[in-house]
Amino acid sequence: MPLIEWKDEFKLGISEIDAQHQRILALINELYAMVDEKKYTENNQMDHVIQELADYAIYHFSTEEKYFQLFGYEKKDEHIKIHEQYKAKIEEWRQRYNQDKNPAIFFEISEFLQNWWTWHINNTDRAYVPFLQANGVK
Ligand SMILES: [Fe+2]
Repeated sequence: MPLIEWKDEFKLGISEIDAQHQRILALINELYAMVDEKKYTENNQMDHVIQELADYAIYHFSTEEKYFQLFGYEKKDEHIKIHEQYKAKIEEWRQRYNQDKNPAIFFEISEFLQNWWTWHINNTDRAYVPFLQANGVK
């Protein structure tokens, strides 16, 4: 079973952002499935998924931040700060894993990702939807 099932409740109504969120959840599920099947010993597959998750999140954040800057979103500073904290957290984990290669960390990461993204999409992101839509983003 996937860790997070994509549900209509996750939809913000902005197709570009929704598609990116869907991709992120799919990557989290991919990571979780690997953890669940104990694939962390195989050919750095986990490293690959973690890297993709980190890179794709950065790409996604930059999409949102581009709109914040473009239209002058009033909560942009606090929203960008949350993105920065996320990036720092992922970096911290990457370093920790590289040091001790302890796979237990992946359970921690999966749980964090599940909680973080569920909350972020439904609260922090949802808050910008009326503003972006009022500026013509669909
Ligand atoms: Fe965001």
